[in-house]
Amino acid sequence: MARLPTYFFHGLNQTIARLKAAGVDIIRMDMGSPDLPPAPFIIEQLQSSAADPTRHGYMPTGGPPAYRAAWAEFYGRRFGVELDPASEVTGLIGSKEGIFALALAYLNPGDVVLIPDPGYAAYLGGAHFAGAEIVRLPLIAENHFLPDFRAIPAEVLQRARLLWLNYPNNPTGAVASLEVFAEAVALAREHGFVLAHDAPYTEITYDGYRPPSVLQIPGAKDVAVEFHSLSKTCNMAGWRVGTMVGNPEIVRVLQQLLSNIESGQFLPVLDAASVALTGDNTWIAERNRVYRERRDLVVAGVRAAGLETDVPSAAIYVWARLPGGADDDAYAGALLEGAGISVTPGRIFGRMGHGYIRVSLGTATERVREAMARWQSWAAARG
Ligand SMILES: Cc1ncc(COP(=O)(O)O)c(C=O)c1O
Repeated sequence: MARLPTYFFHGLNQTIARLKAAGVDIIRMDMGSPDLPPAPFIIEQLQSSAADPTRHGYMPTGGPPAYRAAWAEFYGRRFGVELDPASEVTGLIGSKEGIFALALAYLNPGDVVLIPDPGYAAYLGGAHFAGAEIVRLPLIAENHFLPDFRAIPAEVLQRARLLWLNYPNNPTGAVASLEVFAEAVALAREHGFVLAHDAPYTEITYDGYRPPSVLQIPGAKDVAVEFHSLSKTCNMAGWRVGTMVGNPEIVRVLQQLLSNIESGQFLPVLDAASVALTGDNTWIAERNRVYRERRDLVVAGVRAAGLETDVPSAAIYVWARLPGGADDDAYAGALLEGAGISVTPGRIFGRMGHGYIRVSLGTATERVREAMARWQSWAAARG
């Protein structure tokens, strides 16, 4: 427990509660939690299933066959990836629990785990508990926030047991091509480690971009698994619906671990998730248009306030570099106290996040507009 960092948003929530109590109007653009609801047909399915007296019992860990088949259907339709629902798909109570548990299942003390920096914090949690040696892979702007696999020392690769990748990326908004995935698969095969690709943002995209799945690489299933989630895909963050798909042995091991910890998930939630995965998904394109408008507002807004950023083609974040090497923690604190805008300082994602801030697009468009106006006047007054 002593090695675990304090959860950033816990402290932030306390600061925000204090400011709100003092009457400050806070615009939250820190967490990656979608503000919009899922499509009505998904909620209707939850309601009708919940009204069915036969759908209230324990469920198997990983979900019943029909639910796993829905994920397999989604992967087939979306990525052209064929999955056996019985052995290559397991449901998760949100992908975060699986990400944590995979590290517990696969890492022993002394094993190396390769984790991108900056990166999503949950990759670290399980690794700390497993006593693994954490080696961070720097993601830098000059390399389009992709890892430089050739820079990993041979001795580290020898001891590596697990490599995490995440594209479209949180927090940078970067994307990876199939060539990058092919390189990672080849490395995992050569050195005999597990490649875990975390892909919750593949369905939030702009300007026609379509992110690939790592499982599209021939032979990927020999070494790789992919995590997916409806949290962002279908605005269902609070529902806790995720999956891990791919290598059947890794699927089996994760299920074995999780079946000792939990007893499945509420079936009506899984029924609704199944229709979300297999039903009419045209509403997602409409939802992405809303995010795109916000993305454009934020990109223009932060640039006008003196920050540098690329225009992301996927995910719900704008990753912006502060001017003059400013301290991200101090900047985010001052922006919150001075303009009532809450953003995430880059350092919480790792050392390479210093000097950056992450702005989330999961906030009502009118509030985003207001935030950008406030930010610019605040920055202008600061000089
Ligand atoms: C990169 C990444 N992976 C996983 C998750 C967790 O998603 P879930 O809600 O499925 O646990 C998030 C949530 O923000 C994320 O950004």
